Amino acid sequence: MAGVLKAKDLRKTYPSGAGLVAAVDGVNISIRPGDYLVIMGVSGSGKTTLLSLLSGLERPTSGSVTVDELDLTKLSERALTALRQSRFGFIFQDFHLIGHLTALENVAVPLELAGKSGAVARQRALELLNRQGLGDRTHHFPHQLSGGQKQRVAVCRALANRPSVIFADEPTGNLDRASADAVLGLFDELHQEGQTMVVVTHDPAVADRGDRVIRMEAGRIVSGERRA
Ligand SMILES: Nc1ncnc2c1ncn2[C@@H]1O[C@H](COP(=O)(O)OP(=O)(O)OP(=O)(O)O)[C@@H](O)[C@H]1O
Ligand SMILES: [Mg+2]
Repeated sequence: MAGVLKAKDLRKTYPSGAGLVAAVDGVNISIRPGDYLVIMGVSGSGKTTLLSLLSGLERPTSGSVTVDELDLTKLSERALTALRQSRFGFIFQDFHLIGHLTALENVAVPLELAGKSGAVARQRALELLNRQGLGDRTHHFPHQLSGGQKQRVAVCRALANRPSVIFADEPTGNLDRASADAVLGLFDELHQEGQTMVVVTHDPAVADRGDRVIRMEAGRIVSGERRA
């Protein structure tokens, strides 16, 4: 499954006062399998909105997003949800772990949603957590984990269904430098294994690691570079 992700003439407008604000204003982009794409730009430039459109969390006002020629904007809500669950992984600045579930149960959630039995889901969740050195934290609840540990649990959850693309919005925004670097080291490993990554950030340390950095201003891509 290749997983080429393409956006064409993508626009998203929101009502603002008497008028409209174009949060994303005519974006064209193609993300190839194995890319580690970093999206930068000042606050309000449309980074989160672009990520939400590319990952099918939001629908554009106009334009298209395709995965292997399949147009996300034409899918029913149910089909879009199924595609997100099976093909995409998500990582957020504030972790979005479920507070009353343990680390293991949090990682098992997307597997169970994908139809895996409880036993199979827990086994895969355990393998993922062990691999991230969190084997001794599996029965801890989020409030019993450090920020860095929470984000590594969130990475495990994002990986659970072996997604084509991982989308991360400010994944190091709430972490100290050492925890941020641990998460970024993990991203490097995933990238080396061929995982496609799309990461929104203000952190120059993230931009240094991506193989492609685009900058947004007022909803548009103003520069993009592909590193050798
Ligand atoms: N649901 C919404 N309703 C109305 N306006 C919105 C909505 N979401 C975003 N916007 C507006 O769209 C623009 C882009 O917002 P977005 O959240 O994509 O920026 P961002 O680059 O992610 O900023 P930050 O770095 O602060 O997270 C902003 O002007 C914002 O106010
Ligand atoms: Mg944002």
